[in-house]
Amino acid sequence: MNLYEALRARRSRREFSAEPVAPTDKAALLDLARERPEGGWAYPSAHGLRTVTLYDVGPHVPRNAVESAVFDEQPWLLHAPLLLVLSADLGRAHAEFDFQDPSGNQARDFVMLEAGCLLQSVLLTCADRGLAAVPVAGLRRPDIDGVFGHPAHVISLVAIGHTAAN
Ligand SMILES: Cc1cc2nc3c(=O)[nH]c(=O)nc-3n(C[C@H](O)[C@H](O)[C@H](O)COP(=O)(O)O)c2cc1C
Repeated sequence: MNLYEALRARRSRREFSAEPVAPTDKAALLDLARERPEGGWAYPSAHGLRTVTLYDVGPHVPRNAVESAVFDEQPWLLHAPLLLVLSADLGRAHAEFDFQDPSGNQARDFVMLEAGCLLQSVLLTCADRGLAAVPVAGLRRPDIDGVFGHPAHVISLVAIGHTAAN
């Protein structure tokens, strides 16, 4: 599948089978947020600051706690075989960019643009690999930050798996 085909194939899909995401697919997704061994990154970053982080929620964070910290009922958060978190260090961005705009809007916009570029890369990689995925950014604050218990600001979750057979 080429990039244009992946763009055409991408849809938000929320129904997942129990089939796990293969380790190679998971590694490919997480690698999108890392510098490549030969240098270079899959997404741009203002000043190359790299404030955005992508990681697997893993088994230690209860899924029902995650699902309770989003708006509406979103049962796909309970059932997705893989749940990624896109978060950012807003403090570093403010320290770098607030001289340009003391309101802080510039710093925040830069972080969200960076996160959006990475998110789309994740979604297109899922499309390319035949994985179903949906971004979940309807997050209730401060509940969601409490669930992950770290100072980074959670921007979006990404629920990923194989499409459930109809
Ligand atoms: C910023 C943002 C937040 C979103 N939050 C949620 C969400 O909380 N739950 C959800 O199921 N989908 C969420 N979505 C996915 C949208 O519902 C979806 O993109 C939209 O319905 C269009 O469908 P498509 O992605 O198939 O084109 C979000 C998308 C974006 C860009």
